[in-house]
Amino acid sequence: MSSPQQLIASDGLVARPSGRWVRRKHHYLDRYCGITATGMKNKWPRRVFLDVMAGPGLCKIENTGEELPGSPLIALEHEFTDWLFIESDAVLADALTKRVAKVNPKAQVVQGDWTTLASKGQLDFPNALVVAFVDPTGIQQVPWAALERLLKGNRTIDLLMTIQYAMGITLNANNYIESQAEQTALDQFLGEREWRDWRCHSATEFKDRVLARFFEKMEALQFKSSRQQTVEAEGRPLYRLALFSRHPKADEFWQKIITVDETGQKELL
Ligand SMILES: C[S@@+](CC[C@H](N)C(=O)[O-])C[C@H]1O[C@@H](n2cnc3c(N)ncnc32)[C@H](O)[C@@H]1O
Repeated sequence: MSSPQQLIASDGLVARPSGRWVRRKHHYLDRYCGITATGMKNKWPRRVFLDVMAGPGLCKIENTGEELPGSPLIALEHEFTDWLFIESDAVLADALTKRVAKVNPKAQVVQGDWTTLASKGQLDFPNALVVAFVDPTGIQQVPWAALERLLKGNRTIDLLMTIQYAMGITLNANNYIESQAEQTALDQFLGEREWRDWRCHSATEFKDRVLARFFEKMEALQFKSSRQQTVEAEGRPLYRLALFSRHPKADEFWQKIITVDETGQKELL
């Protein structure tokens, strides 16, 4: 049985309900996978695509019914040598397993919680170039401890991450600020409690500070972030797509691929 938030696609399996803005996210993912998997072919014999929150593999645009490949099917089009897709929801993972098997039986789908797998070292790929996609819908899905473990366990990893403009942070700012004692999703996201001492004048300022702190922590692990691409829905910023890497080559690739947007237009940088 699919949950009410899922739609059935023409292949009879569940699809992720999406807005048409999903094209923009997938456009950059597609281009980055292409340039990296092919461009690094001679340097890295093993090139892994790791999708820690993979979804069912197919998106369905809610108001048009149009079906579009999700991040796993996009990555399968590129010259990686290994693919690992993790999805915690059993129905979605089952749909993804069936879809992926039709395209490349070598690709692996695991139903589980990526944070548990990361903490057990099951997402470490020695001697491989890893492109990891982290596509959460809220900060509770990206605890710092798991992310740090993933980044420390892989020497050569580029991380593409969607960061919701609000990430539930603006919405929950007052709750967070008032919760002096408890462990909140924000404590887990930042892996620290010091934010309670911040003095902010608005929920927006608080959210900006949270994200700035997150970027600072990434930098402390030697991960530089490239220019972020904003994805808008009905003229309002929804999320940004950020690329983090320890290697300058990633930014070089990113600068090349962001020159053309999802409509084929040249972007002004
Ligand atoms: C935004 S959707 C992924 C969409 C997909 N990346 C795409 O672009 O087609 C996020 C997915 O992460 C899954 N998820 C949430 N928390 C998770 C966790 N801790 N481990 C694995 N999957 C998780 C959700 O069930 C949901 O399907």
